Amino acid sequence: MHHFDYRDSELFCEDVPVRTIAEQFGTPVYIYSTATLERHFNVLSEAFSSQACLIAYSVKANSNLSVLATLAALGSGADVVSAGEMQRAIAAGIPPGKIVFSGVGKSEFEIRAALSAGIHQFNVESRPELLRLSRLADDMGKSAPVALRVNPHVEAGGHANISTGAAEHKFGIAWHEAVEVYKLAMTLPGIAVKGVDVHIGSQITKLGPMKTAFEKVVGLIRELRALDIPISRVDLGGGLGIPYKDGETPASPADYAAMVGDVLNDIDIELILEPGRMIAGNAGIFVSRVEYVKERDGRRFAILDSAMNDLMRPALYQAVHEVRPVKRDDALQSLTYDLVGPICESTDRFAKDYSVQELRENDLIAFMSAGAYGAVMSNQYNTRPLCAEVLVKGDKAELIRRAPTFEEMIANERVAEWLKS
Ligand code: LLP
Repeated sequence: MHHFDYRDSELFCEDVPVRTIAEQFGTPVYIYSTATLERHFNVLSEAFSSQACLIAYSVKANSNLSVLATLAALGSGADVVSAGEMQRAIAAGIPPGKIVFSGVGKSEFEIRAALSAGIHQFNVESRPELLRLSRLADDMGKSAPVALRVNPHVEAGGHANISTGAAEHKFGIAWHEAVEVYKLAMTLPGIAVKGVDVHIGSQITKLGPMKTAFEKVVGLIRELRALDIPISRVDLGGGLGIPYKDGETPASPADYAAMVGDVLNDIDIELILEPGRMIAGNAGIFVSRVEYVKERDGRRFAILDSAMNDLMRPALYQAVHEVRPVKRDDALQSLTYDLVGPICESTDRFAKDYSVQELRENDLIAFMSAGAYGAVMSNQYNTRPLCAEVLVKGDKAELIRRAPTFEEMIANERVAEWLKS
């Protein structure tokens, strides 16, 4: 479900024509829909309304301050993986008491910052991290609320590069060592054991693997409680997939909630969820302009003004984002294109042999479902500026990140003294 639809053959975001945004703010540009963000958050929170549940939006999916503030207003918490993300979440109005800090590599600086802020939970991923957290919390006279992220050794995830729950992955504490590390945690100063955390991957469209992992986690919770280890929270991570194409039907939030309810059954526990893509994915599109159409050796290339630096998912995960013309013209035939960017890399290709309405120079196209892991993963390769982001609410559209000027892009660089003669 999203709020990007055609009206009289023009693509709109809510009540604003996409063309108007492209003309006002330039291309390439990310456009987000407030109504879609709100709907996704509310659908999930309603699905879990029967139990105590903190929805800690996974900031990595889309960390723009306005996106975070939109979710903060709905009561969202945040799942962060760096001090920078924590600072953003707090700046956007998410209270530290609703922030969980995940990630395998928390630095001393990050741990101190999170202890000072007074976050809800540290999701600890290893024994050395636990020892470091204990030492720093003890030094600061604090008690760190901790869940251990366990690795349930379950394969899941839409693509090998976004699967995290198997033994080979760097994430979490090995299943067979979990109880031992909990026992150690109970003896450490500065550590308050609170919960169990698990996250097995992203863009998971079938519930089976999640169910298997969550059942194992419930078994672990029972075992820990039997040892008088006070487990009052379970964090089930993120990972629920979204439809990237018309006709795809991944498990719905309601199915997911029913499965979780089933698995948790009679254990009295506070639930934490870390959804990212499910909230932001279909709430954003990425709009580009066609620079050239070039035919060569029997192939037709549409060369765009956007590139792999702006939207990395096709290059990194062979992801296909559905393409829609911003102006639909039924008189035009459908043709097959390779949609590519200007970067000198063969991976700078958004789609191969993609069938779309005939494209001409200066036409605008929208890559759909680009709200999650789009702008956040962009970079300035080829000294291409990070592109603008625009948020729409009803008939209003506002710039929520402007592209840097060339001067800003090089402002932190210096010519070494010895090069200035
Ligand atoms: N919690 C943890 C610990 C995570 O590692 C992640 C995502 C999430 C929550 C949120 O997962 P979600 O609900 O969004 O699936 N860049 C990739 C996705 C990487 C996901 C990394 N972890 C992509 O573009 O597909």
